[in-house]
Amino acid sequence: MKSLAARLAATYLLVVFLALAAVDFLVLGSIEAFTLRQREIATFTSTNIAVNQVEPFYRDRQPGIGETALIQIARAHAGQSGSRVLVIDGLGRVVADSQWSGGLVGRTLTHPEVARALAGQSASGQRYLEGAGRVLYTVAPVLENKVPVGAVFLSTSLEDIYAGLTDIARTMLIMSAIALLVAALVGLGVARTITGPVTRLTRAVERMGRGELEQRVRVHGRDEVATLSRTFNEMAERLHEEDVRRREFLADVAHELQTPVASIRAMAEPLAAGRGPGPNGGTREYDIKTYKELAHDMEAQSERLGRLVGDLLELARLESPKVSLTMEDIDLTGLAAGLVRELKPQAQAAGVDLGTGRLDPVRVTGDGLRLEQVLVNLVTNGLKYAGAGRRVVVEVRRRGSEAVLTVADNGPGIPSEHVGHIFERFYRVDRSRSRRGGGTGLGLAIVKRVVELHGGTVSVRSKEGEGTTFEVVLPAR
Ligand SMILES: Nc1ncnc2c1ncn2[C@@H]1O[C@H](COP(=O)(O)OP(=O)(O)O)[C@@H](O)[C@H]1O
Ligand SMILES: [Mg+2]
Repeated sequence: MKSLAARLAATYLLVVFLALAAVDFLVLGSIEAFTLRQREIATFTSTNIAVNQVEPFYRDRQPGIGETALIQIARAHAGQSGSRVLVIDGLGRVVADSQWSGGLVGRTLTHPEVARALAGQSASGQRYLEGAGRVLYTVAPVLENKVPVGAVFLSTSLEDIYAGLTDIARTMLIMSAIALLVAALVGLGVARTITGPVTRLTRAVERMGRGELEQRVRVHGRDEVATLSRTFNEMAERLHEEDVRRREFLADVAHELQTPVASIRAMAEPLAAGRGPGPNGGTREYDIKTYKELAHDMEAQSERLGRLVGDLLELARLESPKVSLTMEDIDLTGLAAGLVRELKPQAQAAGVDLGTGRLDPVRVTGDGLRLEQVLVNLVTNGLKYAGAGRRVVVEVRRRGSEAVLTVADNGPGIPSEHVGHIFERFYRVDRSRSRRGGGTGLGLAIVKRVVELHGGTVSVRSKEGEGTTFEVVLPAR
């Protein structure tokens, strides 16, 4: 009985039970009080009638009253009222009894009701008598010149009333039991509708705990459980998406690593053997020049592998929830100008005209090395993808409370269907071109992450044939 449904149903049942018991008890109690009161009134009326009938005999026959006549009255009266009738003299002695055998005639009654009647007041009382059950006594005084000279005593069985009450009680008990049964069924039903969704949710959570991330629960209505279910579904959705992304990323990483590893192996084999494929499908011994060429190629592939692993590690660090940046007061303008100077030789080698445009003095709070990393990534992308003969311009502006850093080129631009994706990990418009330029496809993902860690945003505008502009917005100091 530990389940919520059982507890809810049990509580409900207990309340219903107590309510029914209280109602039964009160109803039975008031029926009992009412019928007893009615019976008492009726018996008193009947006692008073008897008093009126016996009164004349007291007057005429003082003190040795005419027993025969009294007995007849008592019997007649008993026959009418269904009671036992006793006529008592001023001393409490029984002078007539409606019972045929003569009953209590001659005995002195010591009941307190009799004493009160002989003191001039009507009285009543209830008794439980062995063999006879419950009885009601009513005693009324017989007065002469307002002085009590005797009394009439009526004894009525109350067993009929109690038999009736027992019948009513039995009926009420049966009705209550039926009501309780119905209440139990309804209560259990209601409890189930409340706890059913909770049970389903629990099962879904359990399954999810075992790694089944596709779990969803049905949502009914808008109560607390429905809200919980909805929240659960949203969480499951996010976890699922996250899981899918993680798997895809892992697959991408493996794929990216495979290419340089495979080519290194392809070169290492003939290097180790000292001979490799020669002209006309044969083999040839390697001379020192070939050795050098192969070693050189291997070095390039290793570098590429190193860059890939380096970028992956960097991204992992940046995406770790525990990433810590060294936040300092940074002169963004100085940093941009300095970097452009440093990258000039590289630009010249690529045949690109790298320079600065507008440079507002702006300071930001940030990690200097990481901000340099952002700028290097954007500028080298510009050098790589704009191509020889083009221009790359770096600008720093102040826009209200923001520092805006732009890297613009007048290169071929990015086809619009790709623009929305270039910040994704490993996303490259032209894979082989990126690779030739030493790209890993992770540069812009790193840029985005760094900028976000600084509380900023990065966006790109690009038009095919006209050029590309990257804009980094950071909170200015
Ligand atoms: N200035 C640019 N002009 C045109 N295409 C660009 C430019 N910058 C980035 N891209 C595109 O975005 C892709 C992703 O860039 P990035 O994440 O730096 O990776 P990578 O440079 O290693 O290829 C590049 O492969 C390229 O296709
Ligand atoms: Mg890049």
